[in-house]
Amino acid sequence: MSAAVIQHAEPLRVDGLSLSFGGIQVLSDISLRLEAGEITGLIGPNGAGKTSFFNCLTGIYAPTQGGIEMGGLRLEALPPFRRAALGFSRSFQHVALCPELTIAENVMIGLDRLSRAGWLHAFLPLPAGRKERARNRALALGALERLGIAQVADSRPAELPPGLLRLAEIARAIVGEPRVLLLDEPAAGLNSIETRDLAAALKKLRSPDLVLVVVEHDMDLIMDVCDRIFVLNVGRLLASGTPAQVRANPEVVKVYLGDEDE
Ligand SMILES: Nc1ncnc2c1ncn2[C@@H]1O[C@H](COP(=O)(O)OP(=O)(O)O)[C@@H](O)[C@H]1O
Ligand SMILES: [Mg+2]
Repeated sequence: MSAAVIQHAEPLRVDGLSLSFGGIQVLSDISLRLEAGEITGLIGPNGAGKTSFFNCLTGIYAPTQGGIEMGGLRLEALPPFRRAALGFSRSFQHVALCPELTIAENVMIGLDRLSRAGWLHAFLPLPAGRKERARNRALALGALERLGIAQVADSRPAELPPGLLRLAEIARAIVGEPRVLLLDEPAAGLNSIETRDLAAALKKLRSPDLVLVVVEHDMDLIMDVCDRIFVLNVGRLLASGTPAQVRANPEVVKVYLGDEDE
């Protein structure tokens, strides 16, 4: 079998995606197109199904119905590691950095899918591992640099404030040059200055070859950074459009923006 690749600048297409757990419908018939080169926002009240949608895209959850396609490849039946190898990457709702490792080492873990010998090998003090480790460290420093936080490369997570930890997690998610980057509530737990820095970092990640999707409750952040927004409500796609269109949609105001303070 030849190694499948996703060509540059391909959109990710989701068609009729549904997900249920033991009779509970979590996602219902979601169809949408996520464009490369844009920042897409995914918003909706707690429990709307945003994280579950990400889990379907990365293969953690198997949809009960529907298709996921990118660059002519059908993805819905591929296991998570195959999707990671095709360029799917994500950050999680809760910061998940390894406390024993430095920030640069944490970022190097994001190269897992590219490493011939596996990332553990790159940590071992063997000659082959040493060369790979040096290369991986250079890539990790490059990713930290892109997010403007190269100065924390040799710090440990416990020494850093939440804003820098979030950026470090995003560095780990981008170090492998993903085609699809899914960020789940990156501003959770950040103060307003950290959130502003995060917004600046996200805008710098916009790239013609990257499908970038951000789930977020911070409406100012979403409206600021996104080109297009999809609104989920109890597992259904309620609305989509530019930030201005979504903000002006009465349905959206009713179910979501109206109780922004929840
Ligand atoms: N593994 C699971 N098993 C059962 N129910 C789940 C599972 N994952 C998510 N759900 C349910 O799916 C719904 C949507 O959850 P989630 O995707 O986390 O929403 P959001 O991220 O929008 O807050 C919730 O009702 C949640 O309880
Ligand atoms: Mg969630």
